[in-house]
Amino acid sequence: MSRIQLLSPRLANQIAAGEVVERPASVVKELLENSLDAGATQIEIDVEQGGMKLIRLRDNGGGIEEEDLPLALSRHATSKILVLEDLEAVNSLGFRGEALASISSVSRLTLTSRRSDAPSAWQVQTEGRDMEPVVSPAAHPQGTCVEVRDLFFNTPARRKFMRTEQTEFKHLEEVVKRLALSRSDVSFQLRHNGRVIHQLRPARTEQDHERRISSVCGPAFIDQALSLDMCAEASGLRLWGWMGLPTFSRSQTDLQYFFVNGRIIRDKLVAHAVRQAYQDVLFHGRHPAFVLYLELDPRLVDVNVHPTKHEVRFREGRLVHDFIFRTLHRVIADVRPEGAVAPVARSQDGGPVLAGQTPGNPGSNAQQFEQGRMPLTQAPLGGSAAVESSPGAGFANDYRPAGPSLGAVRDQISGYGALHVPANGSGGFGAPDGNGMQGAALAAAQAQGEVAPPLGYALAHLHGIYILAQNEQGLVLVDMHAAHERIVYERMKQAYETEVVRSQPLLVPLSMAVSQNEADCAEEQSAVFQRLGFELSRMGEESLVVRQVPVSLARGNIEQLIRDVLSDMITYGQSQRIENHINELLATMACHGAVRANRQLSVPEMNGLLRDMEITERSGQCNHGRPTWTQLSLNELDKLFLRGR
Ligand SMILES: Nc1ncnc2c1ncn2[C@@H]1O[C@H](COP(=O)(O)OP(=O)(O)OP(=O)(O)O)[C@@H](O)[C@H]1O
Ligand SMILES: [Mg+2]
Repeated sequence: MSRIQLLSPRLANQIAAGEVVERPASVVKELLENSLDAGATQIEIDVEQGGMKLIRLRDNGGGIEEEDLPLALSRHATSKILVLEDLEAVNSLGFRGEALASISSVSRLTLTSRRSDAPSAWQVQTEGRDMEPVVSPAAHPQGTCVEVRDLFFNTPARRKFMRTEQTEFKHLEEVVKRLALSRSDVSFQLRHNGRVIHQLRPARTEQDHERRISSVCGPAFIDQALSLDMCAEASGLRLWGWMGLPTFSRSQTDLQYFFVNGRIIRDKLVAHAVRQAYQDVLFHGRHPAFVLYLELDPRLVDVNVHPTKHEVRFREGRLVHDFIFRTLHRVIADVRPEGAVAPVARSQDGGPVLAGQTPGNPGSNAQQFEQGRMPLTQAPLGGSAAVESSPGAGFANDYRPAGPSLGAVRDQISGYGALHVPANGSGGFGAPDGNGMQGAALAAAQAQGEVAPPLGYALAHLHGIYILAQNEQGLVLVDMHAAHERIVYERMKQAYETEVVRSQPLLVPLSMAVSQNEADCAEEQSAVFQRLGFELSRMGEESLVVRQVPVSLARGNIEQLIRDVLSDMITYGQSQRIENHINELLATMACHGAVRANRQLSVPEMNGLLRDMEITERSGQCNHGRPTWTQLSLNELDKLFLRGR
């Protein structure tokens, strides 16, 4: 081995560049972050050949002093932190003083800048090899322009890793999108080979903000996203943004943006919390879409844990996990037919009235459907009245404002099982108990000054599969099986939660060798295990014994389940695995218990189902994430028939 020598600054920078500058996209990320840190409100990015030939970024930020220009290109030179305390509460995107030094060591770089108080602009140039920057006067308005040419011209090994122009540009565009999402108050322009690809105006209102999300993530996302904004006063956490409806799931994780204090991150803990929130409303193998912003005291998050600053470490990981999970979970649970988010209360005369709404709905389109063929008193008004006429049908048989009934799981299954029995001649199109007057139900409800329920009143049962109903907006189509499956499932879950979990002793107690950490955790959390039906105790420093398990899980792989649960509890502070396993079982039972296609439903049964959907959490999707209903508005119907209105 040869003697130890100090590396030249150029080589040291090139080594550092290996971590910071992977491809043109990483250059754009660093330059954009610098512009945002400098308070820019307008940023223009010009790119040639996917960024391999040229990246030029111009901003209107604070600019750099003439004397500081060479420093800006040196390693470990930054204006953003000075002492350790600053690092512990960073609220700028940059803090390492490394980016420009790295980029300049592997490209031909020109940095031009002018502060608002300076009489003129100055420029500094380097050419990879030449680490002695030359400063000269230049012409430039207030702000900074960085030009990066011929990336990796002096590091051929790196250059070989670059992909096609199109691929490099895709990566680069993704970086611009992320930063554009993180700061909708800033305007961005991106040009590729002279062509404008993105032109994003600054957002000032909520509507502008949604427009930005729509231009970056596509209009379909914002149309099918739920907006949220939740603060936890005590911990100072705030989570806001948009989460895609479970029915807007993706085959990839490509529409997932999570920002922590404006910085996009990929984090295991966050990913887990989000996944868990979407648990049991997503199709297997599908991924949710979201744009979410978490804000918290910068002292509660360490951003200095990864060379590209993509990961963070939360000082209160469990608290953050819990907050994200709970907030998102709540929002998803409230996905019910529009307008029915509030629990249904009963009006004086027994008809359903939505909490928070006043009876009588001026300007309703539904009057156009009025046929007036039957006397109002005979028109079925759905809801409770309808249900009472079909006892034992299973739908809405316990119609209460408090939500689904909480009978025993067994009773639920047998109750719904009644629906499998073919109903002779009852219900369906042409059924004696409702035919001809269903269409008038809505009009009748309105005439009596009642607010029609969100999903309206059933008209017919189509092909034994779909329920056709009429509401104030137009027509509603419901997938009967999918909707019923969700209702049964939610009820079974509730019933399960409110009942004491039945457990059974194992014939031979199961002993497990675990780590000390896991044994500690099991001991600490023994009450949680007990509530879920496990009897689990510590046998020694590194062993556990399981004596009792929930009846429903007795045939599963108990040891694996407990190991996974302990690992979750240690990493995320909680685990939903046992509940998930139980839920999976309940979902299977619900699927079998739900009414099948070709079983003709009577009008009261259909109305009962609609009312149940309105009060059931997550009723917008079946247990497999498929949508349960859809609306066809009068406008859409008019369009179909070219009817001008
Ligand atoms: N667009 C800009 N406008 C104003 N000042 C800038 C701009 N770009 C860079 N600077 C100045 O140059 C310094 C060095 O930038 P550089 O990106 O190398 O490091 P940093 O942003 O401090 O930290 P990091 O390496 O984490 O990005 C910054 O601290 C800042 O003072
Ligand atoms: Mg920087």
